[in-house]
Amino acid sequence: MASLKGKIVLVTGASSGIGRSTAIAFAQEGCRLLVCGRRLDPLGELRQTLVSAGAPAVHTFQLDVQNRAEVEAAIASLPAEWSEIDVLVNNAGLSRGLAKLYEDDPQNWEEMIDTNVKGLLYVTRSVVPGMVARARGHVINLGSTAAYITYANGVVYCASKAAEKSISEGLKIDLMGTPVRVTSVDAGMVETNFSNVRFRGDEERAAKVYQNITPLQPEDVADAIVWAASRPAHVNIHTVVMTTIDQANSMVFHRRG
Ligand SMILES: NC(=O)c1ccc[n+]([C@@H]2O[C@H](COP(=O)([O-])OP(=O)(O)OC[C@H]3O[C@@H](n4cnc5c(N)ncnc54)[C@H](OP(=O)(O)O)[C@@H]3O)[C@@H](O)[C@H]2O)c1
Repeated sequence: MASLKGKIVLVTGASSGIGRSTAIAFAQEGCRLLVCGRRLDPLGELRQTLVSAGAPAVHTFQLDVQNRAEVEAAIASLPAEWSEIDVLVNNAGLSRGLAKLYEDDPQNWEEMIDTNVKGLLYVTRSVVPGMVARARGHVINLGSTAAYITYANGVVYCASKAAEKSISEGLKIDLMGTPVRVTSVDAGMVETNFSNVRFRGDEERAAKVYQNITPLQPEDVADAIVWAASRPAHVNIHTVVMTTIDQANSMVFHRRG
């Protein structure tokens, strides 16, 4: 395992779920953490947790990845001591609703595509040139088993993660000849705030997603992300596909009882 101590790690969408756990896992490796999201309150709470976990420094900032100008300005105006990002975790993402394409509210599509696809592109475009110039860096994108098999009523979320898969593959090609690495971590069901966001706060409906099943926990995904980041510099982990033992793919689950 290569040491990550002192590396600058940027995690988007660190205010909850996988992003939050990933920031903590990197803090435990002694990394300096740059964490952002739209909600500042949970990021403020996270700061102390990261310091207690071992992060020598933490910088939090508000960022809506859907807003290209905001992304460009936020990355360009990072304090000098934070500007040399070693690891970018493109985690910010969401799903909205479960509906047939021909009946869905297009506003849901805008949010998913603007966040999961365009947001990922904006942050990547702002951060990767510095990695190329410094001849070091690693981009880790949050994909999904939804990219491999489209599930019913989830067309646009699945399409957004299929786009993430293509972007990860293409970015790796574009970075040939540089030492910058690209990884896509493609998880199945993970117990986070994801379903609550999908069902716009309908907690009962969200809880049913995880009923009679043992879902992945955000720490499991964070563990895979840190593992990929800590391989020797010449090793590029392209894809990690991971599910709970109770899931075979984006369609097949084993529910008890
Ligand atoms: N949970 C799963 O089953 C699962 C499976 C596979 C992949 N994933 C992917 O994993 C990633 C994290 O999801 P999660 O499960 O951890 O869900 P979560 O608990 O809802 O966390 C999502 C995070 O993304 C942030 N976010 C959403 N929209 C944003 C925006 N426009 N700008 C900046 N940050 C934004 C949220 O922060 P703010 O609200 O503060 O902005 C939050 O911190 C997503 O890309 C998701 O697609 C999840």
